[in-house]
Amino acid sequence: EEIVKIALDGPAGAGKSTVAKEVAKKLQMTYVDSGAMYRCVTFLAIKNHVAMQDEPGLFKLAKAMQLMFIPSEHGQGVQLDGVDVTDAIRTPEVGALVPLVANHALVRECLVEKQREIAHTAYHVVMDGRDIGTHVLPDATVKVYLTATLDVRAKRRHEELVRQGFTGTVSDVMKLLHERDEIDGRREIAPMRPASDAVILDTSCLAIHEVTAMVVSLCQARM
Ligand code: C5P
Repeated sequence: EEIVKIALDGPAGAGKSTVAKEVAKKLQMTYVDSGAMYRCVTFLAIKNHVAMQDEPGLFKLAKAMQLMFIPSEHGQGVQLDGVDVTDAIRTPEVGALVPLVANHALVRECLVEKQREIAHTAYHVVMDGRDIGTHVLPDATVKVYLTATLDVRAKRRHEELVRQGFTGTVSDVMKLLHERDEIDGRREIAPMRPASDAVILDTSCLAIHEVTAMVVSLCQARM
């Protein structure tokens, strides 16, 4: 049996984490949420008053943090230095600042090293992010790039945020997603991009279970 590593990339709100969790459950894989790692550094920077431009300061936080993925009611949560930060890292404030943190070479190198180590240690792995297929796991067995129109992505993300008490509009969310995609797509180091050998799936008109089924069948062909 071949060990399968899935790289699942794409812009914010394309459904990556939902699909990754379902695929992980179906195929008994370890789910690695690489975005959560960038979010944790951002969360720590806000908490410790480290500026988003302070590359060495951010690097120190990234290097020292103890991050663990833990089981939760939604499939998987995040524990940072012993504290459950699953919800705390998903606020609009963290969301707005995280691409600035993710822009720094030192931060990326540190987190990519941690990501590769987890992928290497675990058995079957599905990792979602922006640069997994192009940079973190260039030899991944299956590479999928999920997209959807900005409109659809904003609506999906808005529904999610409203459930957590967010009171803004869909167009507020659209603006936030658009700004984040711009920075993630334009940065110099490992920008968000489909790998040349990735399967590109536009999920605008697909239900989550349909996308999951497609990714599962891509994997099963290799297992
Ligand atoms: O996936 P999620 O929306 O949680 O990612 C949050 C942010 O983390 C992204 O907008 C991006 O700035 C950064 N990120 C990254 N590379 C990854 C995963 C996330 O730069 N592999």
